[in-house]
Amino acid sequence: MKFEYNQENNIVGEQLSAWFGVKCSYAEAGVKEDSNSGTIDVVADVKTERVVVLGGSGFVGSAVCKAAVSKGVEAISLSRSGRPSYSSSWVDQVTWMSGDVFYANWDEVLAGATAVVSTLGGFGSEEQMQRINGEANVVAVTAAKDFGIPKFILISVHDYNLPSFLLSSGYFTGKRKAESEVLSKYPTSGVVLRPGFIYGKRRVDGFEIPLDLIGGPLERFLQATENFTKPLSSLPGSDLLFAPPISVDDVAFAVINAITDDDFFGIFTIEQIKEAAAKARV
Ligand SMILES: NC(=O)c1ccc[n+]([C@@H]2O[C@H](COP(=O)([O-])OP(=O)(O)OC[C@H]3O[C@@H](n4cnc5c(N)ncnc54)[C@H](OP(=O)(O)O)[C@@H]3O)[C@@H](O)[C@H]2O)c1
Repeated sequence: MKFEYNQENNIVGEQLSAWFGVKCSYAEAGVKEDSNSGTIDVVADVKTERVVVLGGSGFVGSAVCKAAVSKGVEAISLSRSGRPSYSSSWVDQVTWMSGDVFYANWDEVLAGATAVVSTLGGFGSEEQMQRINGEANVVAVTAAKDFGIPKFILISVHDYNLPSFLLSSGYFTGKRKAESEVLSKYPTSGVVLRPGFIYGKRRVDGFEIPLDLIGGPLERFLQATENFTKPLSSLPGSDLLFAPPISVDDVAFAVINAITDDDFFGIFTIEQIKEAAAKARV
């Protein structure tokens, strides 16, 4: 079998897989048979995806980096702590950058990126929550847009059907501020994922907390009882009990789907995140 590529700067021959390894995806490919030589030529436009994961060392961010590596997407993480202390083969395949999003050298971080994923967010005082859920993401969206990055994916949160006085906390107002920044700067490519409780194995100070021991069974239980709980869903705050948890891998693969599918943009609910993950896993 012989390979040739129809763009001048692309690599010819089996060197491609050796040089780029799994970091290439094939946007369009055609196969033609050469009747004289009996060889088959594969003609392909090679599209390399390169994702910058803000907070790639965190719980969700590391799952995104791992899923990216597994799907041949090049991953670069930016977080203050940089490379995680544990070792794993996927960890070696990620580029780990140390830095604070508020003082980042964006030229260095975003060079060559085709998408940015932000997992920045968290709890604390009102001021801290506004800063990390809202302002940090606004800074990142602005930098990505100015740099010409075509896609921005934000990990936000389900609103839990909470009464408005609770939604006015810094956590939720920060999230909504970040969401509107993504959707206004990226109206035709921005992605906002709104998961509820995310389960998986969370690493804290070298220990693994198996949130999946609770999250997995709870997700299945809520799915099985959905028909009974649906009538209660209009009650304020009811989703605190009934919104299904989602696995961290589903969130990560939904991100991969968002990176690779140009028709995937807008706001995505818990159910839609699961559907998107299923598509990316194929
Ligand atoms: N976990 C859940 O159940 C859940 C549910 C719904 C939504 N979410 C949302 O999902 C997102 C990810 O959550 P998570 O649980 O993965 O959080 P996490 O484990 O705390 O990860 C946050 C990441 O952001 C990085 N970070 C924080 N401040 C930063 C800064 N100033 N500059 C650069 N990096 C910074 C952290 O690394 P450093 O500290 O080393 O910088 C860490 O890598 C958050 O937005 C959260 O609100 C989570």
